[in-house]
Amino acid sequence: MRRRLVVGNWKMNGGLAANARLLDHLVSEWQPSDRCAIAVCVPFPYLGQAQAALSSSAIAWGAQDVSAHAAGAFTGEVSAAMLVEFGCRYAIVGHSERRQMHGETDAQVAAKAKAAIGAAITPIVCVGETLEQRDADATDAVVMRQVRAVVDALGGDVAKIVLAYEPVWAIGTGRTATPAQAQEVHASLRAALIKAAAPEVGILYGGSVKASNATALFAMPDVDGGLVGGASLDANEFLAIARA
Ligand code: 13P
Repeated sequence: MRRRLVVGNWKMNGGLAANARLLDHLVSEWQPSDRCAIAVCVPFPYLGQAQAALSSSAIAWGAQDVSAHAAGAFTGEVSAAMLVEFGCRYAIVGHSERRQMHGETDAQVAAKAKAAIGAAITPIVCVGETLEQRDADATDAVVMRQVRAVVDALGGDVAKIVLAYEPVWAIGTGRTATPAQAQEVHASLRAALIKAAAPEVGILYGGSVKASNATALFAMPDVDGGLVGGASLDANEFLAIARA
């Protein structure tokens, strides 16, 4: 049985005071649920704050990236072992903003997922096509190439990931994939996971998820939850998405 999951990706937003208000609000309003788990992925400097605020709650937390390396001369990088010290359950890897702006390759994303799993952190592996690729009918080829890199690197451990389908054209644009568009891609991702003997892996949808569209998206059979950017910075909106 796949458990539903709604994850907030704060991206490079927040500040100590605003985070405290947001986290306290989530803690006081979120009713632990067997049907749906929630988590927030915060900027690295705020992991300690998230740990302190959420430790005795049912809300998990995580990072937005993780190094593929264990330790050493990698200025600016943060290892999986460091994330463990801050209680992280999740680490997003391969977000399109990192693939596009930092040139992360499929192989690097797979190595990061592997490093996370090695530290018992669940990598949330993001895949998704650009508008240009969609218009060229390359959506399936692109997301399958991205997933295959991770499946090949992880082998049987692929069952330990969470997958997130985030069409690049839907991120931060207000333009969400329709439930049918999301389902079509999720179904082919599911088929790839079944082939890799990982049928239970959760597949989240991300890209302009809001309270107003979450119910229809989450009603799709292969959409197991959401990876929420902008709307996760508003506690009421984020909670409404999780309740959907
Ligand atoms: P938005 O929800 O702001 O479109 O961002 C989606 C996203 O990139 C989550 O990782």
